[in-house]
Amino acid sequence: MAIGIGLLGLGTVGAGVAAILASPEGRHPLVGQLALRRVAVRDPGRARAVSLDPTLLVTDPHLVVDDPAVDIVVEVMGGLEPARSLILQAIAAGKSVVTANKAVIARYGEEIAAAAAARGVYVLIEAAVGGGIPIIEPLKQSLGGNRILRVSGIVNGTTNYILSRMAAEGAAYADVLADAQRLGYAEADPAADVQGGDAADKIAILAGLAYGGSIERSAIPTEGIDRLEARDVTYANQLGYVVKLLAVAERFEASASPDAPPAPVPASNDVALDVRVHPTLLPRSHPLAGVDGVNNAILVEGEPVGQVMFFGPGAGAGPTASAVVADILNIAGISQLGAPAGALDPLLAASRWRQCALVDSARTRHRNYVRLLTRDEAGVIGKIGTAFGTAGVSIQSIVQYEASGSASSSGAGSGAEIVVITHEVEESRFRQALAAITALPEVQTVAACLRTL
Ligand code: NAP
Ligand code: HSE
Repeated sequence: MAIGIGLLGLGTVGAGVAAILASPEGRHPLVGQLALRRVAVRDPGRARAVSLDPTLLVTDPHLVVDDPAVDIVVEVMGGLEPARSLILQAIAAGKSVVTANKAVIARYGEEIAAAAAARGVYVLIEAAVGGGIPIIEPLKQSLGGNRILRVSGIVNGTTNYILSRMAAEGAAYADVLADAQRLGYAEADPAADVQGGDAADKIAILAGLAYGGSIERSAIPTEGIDRLEARDVTYANQLGYVVKLLAVAERFEASASPDAPPAPVPASNDVALDVRVHPTLLPRSHPLAGVDGVNNAILVEGEPVGQVMFFGPGAGAGPTASAVVADILNIAGISQLGAPAGALDPLLAASRWRQCALVDSARTRHRNYVRLLTRDEAGVIGKIGTAFGTAGVSIQSIVQYEASGSASSSGAGSGAEIVVITHEVEESRFRQALAAITALPEVQTVAACLRTL
């Protein structure tokens, strides 16, 4: 028997989904049983990337959700409203939902999951993180026996595409961003990509699944690539690093120190997490350093599994539609078993089983890259070193660049750029050192400050 699909949106992702449904040959037999019943768009006159019976198109998305011939609602319209309300409306009508909308899930995931559990339907979100990479279901199911230590990744295709092309070709930021928009990688408002908000939505979702508790999305410290300067990418490169926009969620252990033994597992199930998004210097040998272009990768570190990395295209019509259709098939397969409403598969339904608190970022520990603009005078490097040392910040390397940008130890020229890489240190100490350095009369400004792995 055919399973009715209603699409909310026929843009980049919606058209990709419609294209798969229209060509079931050679795919899983269930694909052939999925029948597209109704599709909501804003402008029915717009040219589409897929050819479709025009009578399926409606401009009122409620008509899709309310259509009795629609069994599964696929929300690929984006934005917070009316997407959230339509998802809730579909659930209330007893329909399972597939969504690629990480913005809604990161903010309203708890409300939506509770409504779905109460109504005995599914809300599956594989496409919300990592585009075509299967990461949601592996975290919910395949890695369920692990104690997760860290989830870190490149989870925004647009920014990785921009950074890769800037590094490889010296391409201009605005040009590459325009290409990413044309290719369908960027969000409707690309500020969500370049300012890090999209990556923060995704790491909130991944952390919630990995650690079994909800994550306060608005509390995630978030920095994008929009203020990153090309010279920092160049200097990082000269020092043996690549710059990536990294999203990280890791267990916070108060005693964390390179030499300290692993902290015992607390008696309580609750966990403190360091969750953040920022441009990061990665040593070239790091598993995420070679992930280029629109590709994403998520590195999951767990006990006892060790390191598992998920890699693939992180955005675009085909990859994202691949993930959406996989979710549709999961729901269709279960519904074909004739399971009664309420008999939710505990692994397909995300479960929350503890409290996750985000730790104050001042208490977290990181390595840092700092670029200072200074007067080029004898003793400046010594004063900077002393300020770091006084705050208890150990320096790994310090390099002076002349105005031309070439490394020098001569100190010639009217001004200097000094790049410091620190050893791992508590953020509060690092900030204390920066405050002292900023106050030095020889230091004109802290021009860049980036995290380093
Ligand atoms: P898009 O190209 O902008 O498409 C949005 C679609 O929704 C369009 O067809 C639009 O109609 C329709 N729409 C929007 N608001 C509507 C409304 N109020 N009523 C009726 N129709 C409405 O967006 P997209 O790139 O496909 O992204 C869709 C979702 O997938 C977003 O949540 C995004 O974050 C997520 N996602 C995207 C990607 C990607 O690579 N693009 C990857 C993963 C997840 P018109 O066509 O008539 O304007
Ligand atoms: N704008 C998003 C990105 C789409 O570039 O990663 C995929 O979620």
